[in-house]
Amino acid sequence: MSDYLQGLKRTDMCGTLRATDIGRDVVVMGWAVRRRDLGNLVFVQLRDKTGVVQIVFDKTTTDAELFEKALKIRQEFVLAVCGTVRRREGENANANMATGEVEIVATELKILSEAATPPFAIGDTSANEALRLKYRYLDLRRADLQQKLFVRSQICQIVRQYFTENGFVEIETPMLGKSTPEGARDYLVPSRVHPGKFYALPQSPQLYKQLLMIAGMDRYFQIARCFRDEDLRANRQPEFTQVDVEMSFVDREDDIINMLEGLFKRLFKEIKGMDIQFPLKRLPYSEAISRYGSDAPDLRFGLEIEDITDVVKESGFVVFDNAINGGGKVRAVCLRGLEDKLSRKDLDKLAELVKTYRAKGLAWYGLGKDGIRSSFASKITDETKAALEKKFDLKQGDMIFVVSDTDDFIVCTALGALRKELAAHFDMIKPGDYKLLWVVDFPLFEYSEEEGRIVAMHHPFTSPKDEDLQYMKTEPLRVKAKAYDIVINGQEAGGGSLRIYKQEVQKLMFETLGLSKHDIEDKFGYFVEAFNYGTPPHGGLALGLDRLVMLLTETDNIKDVVAFPKMQNANCLMSNAPDFVEDKQLSDLNIACTKKEEE
Ligand code: AMO
Repeated sequence: MSDYLQGLKRTDMCGTLRATDIGRDVVVMGWAVRRRDLGNLVFVQLRDKTGVVQIVFDKTTTDAELFEKALKIRQEFVLAVCGTVRRREGENANANMATGEVEIVATELKILSEAATPPFAIGDTSANEALRLKYRYLDLRRADLQQKLFVRSQICQIVRQYFTENGFVEIETPMLGKSTPEGARDYLVPSRVHPGKFYALPQSPQLYKQLLMIAGMDRYFQIARCFRDEDLRANRQPEFTQVDVEMSFVDREDDIINMLEGLFKRLFKEIKGMDIQFPLKRLPYSEAISRYGSDAPDLRFGLEIEDITDVVKESGFVVFDNAINGGGKVRAVCLRGLEDKLSRKDLDKLAELVKTYRAKGLAWYGLGKDGIRSSFASKITDETKAALEKKFDLKQGDMIFVVSDTDDFIVCTALGALRKELAAHFDMIKPGDYKLLWVVDFPLFEYSEEEGRIVAMHHPFTSPKDEDLQYMKTEPLRVKAKAYDIVINGQEAGGGSLRIYKQEVQKLMFETLGLSKHDIEDKFGYFVEAFNYGTPPHGGLALGLDRLVMLLTETDNIKDVVAFPKMQNANCLMSNAPDFVEDKQLSDLNIACTKKEEE
């Protein structure tokens, strides 16, 4: 029979055996974690994806051949074991193990596969990360990594179930396509049949999903692989997965937001057993920046940014004066009761941090045991000192951190970074705490220093707010978008928008972005043409699945939730991708390399 393996049929998984199984004859299969020899007894810990169980070979009760075979078992050998479950008596019981009350007395053993000594001990997370990534399949034998992938699978099941129940159709869109306008660099695939032409791997299925709405699919979702050739960070991978969603016949942001809140409710309940309060808080983008210095604010701790421009208006301090006179702001974050925990060195580090956010410097003002401790108290009037202390109701132990600049965005983002750093430094975040919110009312455009022109903040198919349409031509930076991001614990877990569905608005959008007729035709001619044939009002969103899994499994390393992740430089240490290819392959593709990395 096919479900028999060398004559044995697995009856149980290792990690599931309990006291209620005592007396049963079982067959388990798995990897030997370790062997311990105690004279007449050999103990082997056997592991499968459900956990570990202890196997006993007893020389006094088993045949000599079986006992001899048991002595051959080494780390990571693959075994099939038949035996009887019995109670581990007295101090042999192990309360730290789920199966610690029982063990299996072996009656039969098959060594299904032998194993070389692994390059690091399985489960040893202190082993070098590069080594663990090279032997990823061994590191993946670690229970906590496996657990994260199980949660990932469970999340996908819930996503499929939820959207299917709500009338969404799961549709696959092409991997080989034309470049999508998501703003990162594309991964290109050369065409053999069309010399000189390239496909682009999708940065997202954005255009396809909108075309599916034009096609009348009404509600679409996909667990979609996306590719972006961008600088990697702790929460980014060059290939990652989106839960991609689009709905027709919607014209309010609420329609999408409510649908997604239903999913979050279910995910948090089923994965974490938590009841999150809905509807979630919605924070306008401008407030997210001014109060938290980030478009993805972490609300698990306070330390809100306060505008103190008015308080220091007549401070006499030239740094503040310059910022204010230049049209800028002075803002501050107040830390309560911890002033004495910050050394001069800590303060210098914080000053360095804000400089990486382009702030010119950091000023501080605290009330210590011995009075005022400040970098600028000597430069300001007594009235300003009193006003500052009053504004924050400063008590002994409190300290405020101030940044001023003519560019208010710099002030806010620098203090936003400082806020996060203080929270981390003082361990202000409760483990297991979740704060979800929507950031809404994003600007439609932003100025790109790199390109020296305005670009779409989300993408060029995002609808402007109706009331702002009038400013598209004259004051584009003032126009707000029907866009929203879901932020969880200070991370952008997803984002989307209502789309433009009227041709004249789309035309205006392209014009504002400075795209020529030729650019439009060349980049998205097929897409724009589709709009001629009856486009329903539609909108959607994409969640970063990897980020969602990270958040729900409480890890801050995206590699933990991806089976075979890439390194910071986008290579795979296990397979050594990317790699050189044969000259023949290149010539088939009509490609000649002008530069090569050293072998
Ligand atoms: P956006 O570009 O905001 O929107 O992407 C949606 C979500 O995908 C996740 N994400 C990533 N995760 C891991 N590694 C990356 N390199 C990476 N880049 C993005 C983030 C992000 O919020 N087409 C639009 C969605 C829409 O408008 O419907 C889009 O792709 O969690």
